[in-house]
Amino acid sequence: MPGFDLDAVKNQIEQDAATVDSLLKLEELRVKYLGRKGVLAELTAGIGAVPPQERAGFGQKVNVLKNTLNALVAEKQKLFSPRSGQSPASSFDIGMPGINQNLGHLHPITQVVDEICGIFTSMGFVAVSGPEIETEYNNFTGLNIPLEHPSREAFDTFYLKPAGGNQRQRYLLRSHTSPVQVRVMKTAKPPLAVVVPGRVYRPDAVDASHLFMFHQIEGFMVDKGIRFSDLKGVLDVFVKRVFGKDVKTRFRPHFFPFTEPSAEVDVSCIICKGKGCSVCGKKGWLEILGSGMIHPNVFKNVGYEPKKYSGFAFGMGIERIAMLKYGINDIRLFFENDLRFLRQF
Ligand code: PHE
Repeated sequence: MPGFDLDAVKNQIEQDAATVDSLLKLEELRVKYLGRKGVLAELTAGIGAVPPQERAGFGQKVNVLKNTLNALVAEKQKLFSPRSGQSPASSFDIGMPGINQNLGHLHPITQVVDEICGIFTSMGFVAVSGPEIETEYNNFTGLNIPLEHPSREAFDTFYLKPAGGNQRQRYLLRSHTSPVQVRVMKTAKPPLAVVVPGRVYRPDAVDASHLFMFHQIEGFMVDKGIRFSDLKGVLDVFVKRVFGKDVKTRFRPHFFPFTEPSAEVDVSCIICKGKGCSVCGKKGWLEILGSGMIHPNVFKNVGYEPKKYSGFAFGMGIERIAMLKYGINDIRLFFENDLRFLRQF
């Protein structure tokens, strides 16, 4: 057939085949030459136009080309099919390292919250949560913090615009987890042993140890005959389990409107073991939480008889515990979402 140079076609096939390096390219090659409208179909259709004396020879050559191409496609197919398993050049190499799956993990604060709640639930406490938007009553008044009390100032927080309904009830972002004491005691009767993890908000200027939002865990126990020694025992177990057996606890008199007597609790410095260093300000002790015996006025506010029941309460900042535990010197690191920091936990 004039115009068909079979040698040129053969050369072109060889050139094209040399560039095939994937199943996709192989399919392109197959369609180009063996497809319904491919080069070989065209050649076959043209056989009739070849002068009779050359026709047989031409037809034979076309057939040979077709067979060679079929064999070539079949062979390359094996080479690139991952599941063929027969070819030494199979793309599956069991000696290659696997592809690392990037699994996430819990935020360090969540890990510390879980650990602390776990310690208390193992002692029989139940974990509950309360809302971050709280009433002014539960955040202050119910906890024996009257309107004009100076201790409100440090807690004076983010108030929300009243949205219809009870205009006399003011809402705010809670400044501590203590309002959940009021919520729980209003709905349940003693005996109670409860821990409350959650976010709290304060109008604090941001620096290495302050944020306007952080996490606390509140704990409280109410029953007949609960004493200060119960508080000391529970907190001592907690401290030893979080920071280690050798760490000592110290109760320092303090004031909170909702507890009487009140104490701040220190642990012996876990950095210098109590000798005095820059972290503990050469004191050898680190303050970790506030605590005390629940004030009779709080019991009255929730409808408990103060003569019948007694109880203790404590509240701690989670970021502070996590910073001491892991030797972190800036609270802001927890919330910057810098993976170089977060991946260390
Ligand atoms: N609510 C107090 C605070 O945020 C901590 C506290 C809780 C103190 C319970 C005593 C009892 O500082």
